[in-house]
Amino acid sequence: MKKKNILFAVSEALPFIKTGGLADVAGTLPYYFDKKKFDVRVILPKYACMKQELKEKLKYKFFTFVDLAWRNQYVGVFEAKINGITFYFIDNEYYFSSDAPYGEIRGDIEKFAYFCRAIFKVLPQLDFKPDLIHCHDWQSALIPVYLKDQFCKEDFYKDTKTLLTIHNLKFQGVYGSDIVEDVLGLSMNYFTEGKIENNGCVNLLKGGLYFADKISTVSETYAEEIRTHEFGEGLNSFVSYREQDLFGIVNGIDYDFFNPETDKAIFENYSLETVKEGKIKNKLALQRELGLFQDENVFTIGIVSRLTDQKGFDLIGAVLDEICQTNIQLIVLGSGENHFEQMFYDLKNRYPDKISITVGYNEELSHKIYAACDGFLMPSRFEPCGLSQLIALRYGTIPIVRKTGGLKDTVIAYSDDEKASNGFSFASYDAYSLIQQIYSAEKLFYENKESWNQLVLRAMKSDSSWNNSAKKYEKIYSQMLK
Ligand code: ADP
Ligand code: GLC
Repeated sequence: MKKKNILFAVSEALPFIKTGGLADVAGTLPYYFDKKKFDVRVILPKYACMKQELKEKLKYKFFTFVDLAWRNQYVGVFEAKINGITFYFIDNEYYFSSDAPYGEIRGDIEKFAYFCRAIFKVLPQLDFKPDLIHCHDWQSALIPVYLKDQFCKEDFYKDTKTLLTIHNLKFQGVYGSDIVEDVLGLSMNYFTEGKIENNGCVNLLKGGLYFADKISTVSETYAEEIRTHEFGEGLNSFVSYREQDLFGIVNGIDYDFFNPETDKAIFENYSLETVKEGKIKNKLALQRELGLFQDENVFTIGIVSRLTDQKGFDLIGAVLDEICQTNIQLIVLGSGENHFEQMFYDLKNRYPDKISITVGYNEELSHKIYAACDGFLMPSRFEPCGLSQLIALRYGTIPIVRKTGGLKDTVIAYSDDEKASNGFSFASYDAYSLIQQIYSAEKLFYENKESWNQLVLRAMKSDSSWNNSAKKYEKIYSQMLK
C-alpha cells in the first residue's frame, strides 16, 4: 500500500497549547503510527497565547487569503518539526490573539469556521494532499461539511476521507441560524434537521457527525453511552442513526513524558522496584512544599482537574466534611468554576492541616501530585475517556472513580475483581457510593498494607500506552482508505 497522508485538524495540541486532554491526544498520538505506512501531520491555530519560547520555534512558510462568507481574510502558515512530526500553524491575529484559545461562542464559531476553510486553502501550497483528515470535536467539525459542500469538487480533495473524533459530546458549537450564510458561508439548504440544524439552532458538531465518513470517540463505553438520552446531550438519536460508522478507541498517554523513573518534575524518581520508598519521599516533600503536616503514613488523595460539573465536584462537595473526620489529606490542583474553587478554600479554612488547594494550571505541580499521592479522586458524572486516571495509574496512585466512559474501561474495581484490580470504582452517581469507595481504599491502605502494595504494582503495570490504540486507529484508517 502506498504511504497514506493523514492530517490531524485540531484546536489544541501539546506541547504548543493545552486546555484539556484533547491537547494530550493530538500532541502524542501522531508519534505512534507506523511511519512506513502513514505520514501523520498536525494543523492547529497559531495562538498569541502560546509560550514565547514555543512561538520562536515556528518557521514562517507563506501567506495567502481565504474567503469566509463575505470576508476575505489573511492566512499565514508556520511550521515546526518535533521528533519527526510536522506541525502546521494557521496564523491570523484578528482570530487568534486573545489570551486563551476559547472565548465567547459566537466569536469562537467564526474563528474555527475560518480555521477549517483556511486548512483547505493552504494544503495544496504545502503540497500535502491528505488521504484522510482526522477532525477532533466541534472546532474542526466543519471540515467534513465544507469538503462535501465545495472542496470535493476540486481534484486535490476529490478522494479525501474524513474521520471525526468526539472527545466531549457536551460541546457542540451551537448558535442561531443567522450565522449560516453570514459566517459559515453555507447556503440555507444546510439548515435542515438532517444537516447542521438541531433544535432550531446551528450545531456544528452535528454537521460534522452527519458528513464525516466515520465517527469515533475516546472509549468503547462512551461510544455506547452517547446513544442514550442520559449521555447523548440532545444528539443521541442522531448518534444512534450513525451507529454503523461509530466506534470507540480508548486514549493512551505518552509513556516517556509520564514516567516516574525519569520525570524531572517530581522530587524523587522511582520504578516498580522502588515505588514504596519513592512515593514516601515524594509525599513528604510535597507536604512540605504545600505547607501540609508532614506524615508519611497519612492516606493522601490527589485531584488534578478542570473544576466543572462533569468531573463530579458536587459529589465531592457532599462528602468532603465527612472524609475530613478521618485520617486523610486532600491535595487539589484545578481551575474552573468559581463556586468549586470556593468550596475547597472554605474547607481549607476549616481543616488547614488536611487540605491543600492550588487554583490554576500547573504542569509541574500536577506531576508532583500524581507521584506523591496514594489515591486519586475522579468521580465524574460522565467521562469520554479521562487521562488523569491513566497518569495516576502510571505513577502507582490508585484511582477512585465512577464507572462511566473511559473510567469504566480503564479502572478495574477492587470490589469486582480483587486479583486483577487497579483501583476503586462505583456505579451509581450518589455521595453514599462515593464515600463507600473512599473508605474501602482508606481501609485497605491502613489495615492491609500487603494488599495495598500489590494494588499499587498492578496499577503501575496497567498498560495505558498508546501502542494498542494507535494500532486500532491504523486499522480504521486502512479500512477507510482501501
Ligand atoms: P479533560 O480533558 O476532560 O479535562 P482528561 O482527564 O482527559 O480531562 O485530561 C486532563 C489533562 O489535563 C490531564 O493531563 C491532567 O493532568 C491535566 N490537567 C487538568 N487540570 C490541570 C491543572 N490544573 N494543572 C495541570 N494539569 C491539569
Ligand atoms: C475530553 C474529555 C476527556 C478525554 C479528553 C481527550 O476533554 O472530557 O474525558 O480524555 O477529551 O480525549
